[in-house]
Amino acid sequence: MKQAKCIIDKEYKIGTTDPRLFGSFIEHLGRAVYTGIYEPGHPAADEQGFRQDVLDLVKGLKVPIIRYPGGNFVSGYNWTDGIGPVKERPQRLDLAWRSIEPNEIGIDEFVDWCRKAGSQVMEAVNMGTGTSTDAGNLVEYCNHPSGTYWSDLRRKNGHQAPHNIKVWCLGNEMDGPWQIGGLSADDYGKKALETAKIMRWVDPGIELVACGSSGGWMPTFPEWDRIVLEYLYDQVDFISLHSYYGHDDMDNLADFLASFVDMDNFIHTIASTADYVQAKKRSKKRMKLSFDEWNIWSDRFKTYDNWDFAKPRLEQTYNLADALAFGGLSCTLLNNADRVKMACLAQLVNAIAPIYTKPGGPVIKQTTYYPFQQVSVYGRGQVLKAILTCPKYDSKIYGDVPLLQTAVVFNEVTQEISVFALNCAQEDDLEVNFDFRSFGSVRPLEHVVLNGSDLAAVNSFEEPEKVKPNILKISGAEVKQISVVLPKLSWNMIRFNSAK
Ligand code: AHR
Repeated sequence: MKQAKCIIDKEYKIGTTDPRLFGSFIEHLGRAVYTGIYEPGHPAADEQGFRQDVLDLVKGLKVPIIRYPGGNFVSGYNWTDGIGPVKERPQRLDLAWRSIEPNEIGIDEFVDWCRKAGSQVMEAVNMGTGTSTDAGNLVEYCNHPSGTYWSDLRRKNGHQAPHNIKVWCLGNEMDGPWQIGGLSADDYGKKALETAKIMRWVDPGIELVACGSSGGWMPTFPEWDRIVLEYLYDQVDFISLHSYYGHDDMDNLADFLASFVDMDNFIHTIASTADYVQAKKRSKKRMKLSFDEWNIWSDRFKTYDNWDFAKPRLEQTYNLADALAFGGLSCTLLNNADRVKMACLAQLVNAIAPIYTKPGGPVIKQTTYYPFQQVSVYGRGQVLKAILTCPKYDSKIYGDVPLLQTAVVFNEVTQEISVFALNCAQEDDLEVNFDFRSFGSVRPLEHVVLNGSDLAAVNSFEEPEKVKPNILKISGAEVKQISVVLPKLSWNMIRFNSAK
């Protein structure tokens, strides 16, 4: 069996995870909202039409912040269509996803749903067809207490207290030719700057996210990010990153599993670009990164022919291999916790999502639900830089890649150490010796593993638990070092308690 060594020292700190690293995303897209989170008449629906069974699974993920209402959708969306008496709201064509938008759910309902889910809203404004004034009005509607046109309208619509939305995205993927009203970096920089000023004048307490590149594959990357930040550096708190990873067949499994390498490079390039602008501006401020769209997504550029309402869009069924690659990406986000302060798993329900519903029927957890849940629940705390000695494998795209991708988080409150590990080895299991050095001795708590002989296995309404984690035996005795076997092609969470 191949061997690896992992030194874990509490002094080797990367950074503390901001809880918003475990955010997600709901877009008006396909069945994410309609027959996803909202389905009046469903046996599990509450008085507002929100499905309780879906809410229960969302709560299980402990998602602190949810981006809304898009995505590509937001760039053609008039937010005033979604307020006031539902019967009077217009039906619109949604040009982003070739859908009919009934506007039954708007900002007020979404805020209510987020409260039920225990999450905050991250609101995106329309920088495609929308104006700076529209964005300012939306901030006033949401956050101003009362006594003005928009704030009193919110009160008239049933919300006396301000929504108090703190995080706002200045548009979505404005570098993309697919974006409604897409812009050049200079045009976006100028428009976003004026919009940011107005939004901040309305509410100086908000945090703003500028649109960064839609992916490292964009021809304008990373020049887009430099230009945009030169306009916006003083006005925004975050630059956004988006990246999706997919695979067409199992032949390129080695590269697919190594997607975390690309994500890591992407983060470092954007951080360096931001730091260059910081230096050029002689600024004291360090730009934070918001990885507000990330996931596995294999069929990105599919187009849709019909104008549909609540029909499947982007309904990817995730298999075991997807969950493994997903785990590797989660580790990369954790390992960059010093710089990536927010991230949103795109998305949450039905559209490229860990939660999948049947209209009028049940809801299931997709394979990716599990690694996301583990990292969200146990990944909070101080991320430690593990010193890893590990055999490598050869991937076509990324060259030599370590067989093991890990992240280690020490929760100082519970005194627990959580080790997350993706074993990319296809042939053999890997024995890893964990050395806890400055912790002295630790007590193993559990080893939870996601693996199986069929990488194409998926969960379905017929077999909802076909793919789920299993608990492996681990000694409960106090140890200073411990060797743990990580099965080939597996995602692992191993937890220890360091309390004396
Ligand atoms: O998350 C799905 C889509 O992916 C979003 O609408 C868009 O921002 C991205 O291209």
